[in-house]
Amino acid sequence: MNGYHALTDKVYQSLIRPLLFRQDPEEIHELTLNWLEKAEPFGSPRLCKLLYPPVPDLHRLKIECFGLEFPNPVGIAAGLDKNAKIYNSLLSFGFGFVECGTITPRSQTGNERPRVFRLLEDEALINRLGFNNQGQDALLQRLHQRPKRGIVGINLGKNRDTSNEKAAEDYQRLLTAVWHTASYVVINISSPNTPNLRELQGKTSLQRLLDYLFQTAHKLHLQHPRQLPILLKIAPDLSDEALHDLLDVVHQFPLAGVIATNTTLERNQLRSSHAQQTGGLSGRPLQNLSTQILSKLYRELQGEPPLIGVGGVTDGKSAYDKIKAGATLLQVYTGLIYQGPGLANRICRELLAYLDKDGYSHLSDAIGADHRF
Ligand SMILES: Cc1cc2nc3c(=O)[nH]c(=O)nc-3n(C[C@H](O)[C@H](O)[C@H](O)COP(=O)(O)O)c2cc1C
Repeated sequence: MNGYHALTDKVYQSLIRPLLFRQDPEEIHELTLNWLEKAEPFGSPRLCKLLYPPVPDLHRLKIECFGLEFPNPVGIAAGLDKNAKIYNSLLSFGFGFVECGTITPRSQTGNERPRVFRLLEDEALINRLGFNNQGQDALLQRLHQRPKRGIVGINLGKNRDTSNEKAAEDYQRLLTAVWHTASYVVINISSPNTPNLRELQGKTSLQRLLDYLFQTAHKLHLQHPRQLPILLKIAPDLSDEALHDLLDVVHQFPLAGVIATNTTLERNQLRSSHAQQTGGLSGRPLQNLSTQILSKLYRELQGEPPLIGVGGVTDGKSAYDKIKAGATLLQVYTGLIYQGPGLANRICRELLAYLDKDGYSHLSDAIGADHRF
């Protein structure tokens, strides 16, 4: 089986990726999504599963988190399937969960093109998409038409023309709309491509926003009882002081988890000609920065609420580093573009090998291990 997985990875990297990388990054992304969406009614998820069969021994990576049972910890990060077109195909490639969005209440086109750049030499991307998406109604229509075959979270953002003072109303509207449909929701206040959005991470703004949202969640729960896990996604570009303030607020609300991190504005030691493009940097150069933030969060929060580690996960080693730093779950985006759809299986296989090497019988034994020595 290992030989088969290595072969499918090689086919992607030496044959398919060069063809895809000849095209504009955003155009080929849209084309692939549309093609996979059209193929879904003809059984493409079943084909994906046949091509990428699950790794044996997966029960050792099964994890329960905020009341949900994740078949494995490797998920798809927000932004890849913004409009919920291919979540079932992504689950069939072996990903343990998918996060759709970011969606905003109303559809919007985002920033001017070109707005996504490949940094080949750095195994990275820079994007300044700016929450281009079809809006909450289109996303919900798709999710209702095609029942999800696994855990599908929804990432929520505000429209660009909604001021920060009115942002809570956008998030409230979205939370109400997706209440029955999402497996979990994420309050995204960390994209660098919506002007001033990150200011909502400040102590007073965040307190006000979460207060409003948890009051809404309470009312919704009374009308339509369910426990919808509400998570927060944060930026990697927070000073120690800003992170400390943010954690003060996190302690005050029943957040189900924190996602660390979104893309960075840092530009350290990049080699690619696109390095100075405006936007958020993702992929390998983000790996250490996001893992450091994750580690600080774990130390401060002492494991509660659980953390989702995202930023530069490209293989088992980078995934295991985040688990040991304190992540219960992981997400990938840029890694998938560079490594191909076999990435979930590869990470799971390599994680199992790391658990064996360190004498852990289950993934949960390794979470936060760095902090115990
Ligand atoms: C093209 C692109 C679009 C993205 N769009 C979103 C988004 O809409 N919402 C969001 O929360 N994060 C978005 N992200 C950030 C990812 O979810 C993730 O946090 C970040 O890319 C780091 O992970 P990676 O290094 O595995 O890509 C986007 C990333 C990329 C590369």
